[in-house]
Amino acid sequence: MPTPFVFITRQIASEAIERLREKAEVEVWLQESPPPKTVLLEKIAYTDGILTMLTDPIDSEVIQAASSSLKVISQMAVGFDNIDIAAATRRRIPVGHTPGVLTETTADFAWALILAAARRIVEADRQVRQGIWKPWGPDVLTGLDVYGATLGIIGFGRIGQAVAQRAKCFNMHILYYSRQRKPEAERALGATYVDLEEIFRRSDILSLHLNYTPAAHHLVNRERLALMKPTAILINTARGAVVDSEALVWALQNSVIAGAALDVFDPEPIPHEHPLLQMENVILTPHIASASRETRRRMALMAVENVLAGLEDRPLPYCANPEVYS
Ligand code: GLV
Ligand code: GLV
Repeated sequence: MPTPFVFITRQIASEAIERLREKAEVEVWLQESPPPKTVLLEKIAYTDGILTMLTDPIDSEVIQAASSSLKVISQMAVGFDNIDIAAATRRRIPVGHTPGVLTETTADFAWALILAAARRIVEADRQVRQGIWKPWGPDVLTGLDVYGATLGIIGFGRIGQAVAQRAKCFNMHILYYSRQRKPEAERALGATYVDLEEIFRRSDILSLHLNYTPAAHHLVNRERLALMKPTAILINTARGAVVDSEALVWALQNSVIAGAALDVFDPEPIPHEHPLLQMENVILTPHIASASRETRRRMALMAVENVLAGLEDRPLPYCANPEVYS
């Protein structure tokens, strides 16, 4: 068998690339920006495996351009909404992803945003740097108490549950909503299942942890934001398109809610002129919730494990479309 060829769309941990090089010829896209679609179309036409990032649009056009020898698409992320899974499945191409290894790191980051937004840390830092250190005052930069507050979690999978776990130490009331009720996790974490309307109404802090699917598109819309408490804070580390950002701007401008912290946006990067960039009560980070050095190393190794399995015609250990094997 000739040596298989693998294209990696970004520089990843060298240890992971070395591992792949033992079995395959590897080309790495070295630029800081993702490869343009023309490059994806060109590479996928002769590659045996492709290791992708969430910034790569692996849509039906790209998948149709794949060579008949393409044996695996391996995404270095837990989410894979950038990949047309149905199109891959039709061509019987298994798609890998990296669940589990980034759970705790992402939950830590959601918590960093919760605390930063509730206690206005970024805004305070900005003021100090700008030379605005107001005399100590009873109302200066007052925020929301996290300890004892009500935390709403939408999407109660691995990451949502890891966020709830941390909330226990803050003595929070934990509400959750997910498509399916999860009685065991509920008991273990002391969380209460409520419907969507109730979670918007009752949460002091509402954090999103669901997968992006068409059903989740703009789940956070104007109507639901209007149900929230004026003191409430919205946290999004899931996917940008879960939130209707126009509705969010409306809610923040009209004090319908108190603040937001967003690690994801639709589109990414957020356009320069977006009104959210002008708002003091908004924290914006560039999709870095899983970005710890150790977790990114583990994600790269896991993505390589998936590539190797695909090249060797073994079932992918972490497969997003296991139906290709039935
Ligand atoms: C990050 O957003 C991921 O899906 O891994
Ligand atoms: C997963 O978190 C779900 O929404 O069921």
